[in-house]
Amino acid sequence: MANQSVEDLLLQEINSFLIAKNPIPLYDDIKLFKYTTATLYETLRLYPSVPVNGRVCIKEDILPNNTPVYPGKFVKFNLYIMGRDEKIWGDDAKQFNPKRFLNLKNDLKPNRFKFASFSGGPRSCVGEQFATLEIIILTIMLLKEFKFELASDQKSPPEFKDSILLMIKILS
Ligand code: HEM
Repeated sequence: MANQSVEDLLLQEINSFLIAKNPIPLYDDIKLFKYTTATLYETLRLYPSVPVNGRVCIKEDILPNNTPVYPGKFVKFNLYIMGRDEKIWGDDAKQFNPKRFLNLKNDLKPNRFKFASFSGGPRSCVGEQFATLEIIILTIMLLKEFKFELASDQKSPPEFKDSILLMIKILS
């Protein structure tokens, strides 16, 4: 069915792998939840927890787009903007579409300098696997028990706090 919502597809996956005999996903079951994992990545693509990051250049070098960088210079990158860039993610860059992460070779994820929400290189996130496992299990358990809807005073997309992390402003 073409018009199934993300929530419908998540529930379909959850209901197909959790059975009465096995109501909580076990560690080895997590790899089965491919659409749930893709939904996590798609969320982090458009709403990266570390939206702006950077590196200090220690040795003269040339970036892939031929821009020279010199020692002492700070090179910043903005993942919030990169996640919406059609040159990187294609014409539907601004749309929330978890399916873009399915059927990729590298365990759902594209090149980690393209999907850089956990960063890339030697100082990338050491908690990536733990965080991924934690979020997938929590998503499965919550969606299994509850139906979610937007609170009447909550905007979508939400407003964000002024912070180096992408934190939602809680409206009172
Ligand atoms: C959705 C969850 C998470 C996201 C998106 C995330 C993202 C990131 C990013 C982008 C960096 C790199 C910062 C940089 O380049 O300077 C980072 C570093 C780091 N993260 Fe995470 N993180 C998450 C969860 C976690 C968790 C759960 C842990 C610990 C259990 C963790 C531990 C760390 C540590 C220790 C570093 C520093 C690594 C280093 O500097 O060598 N993270 N994380």
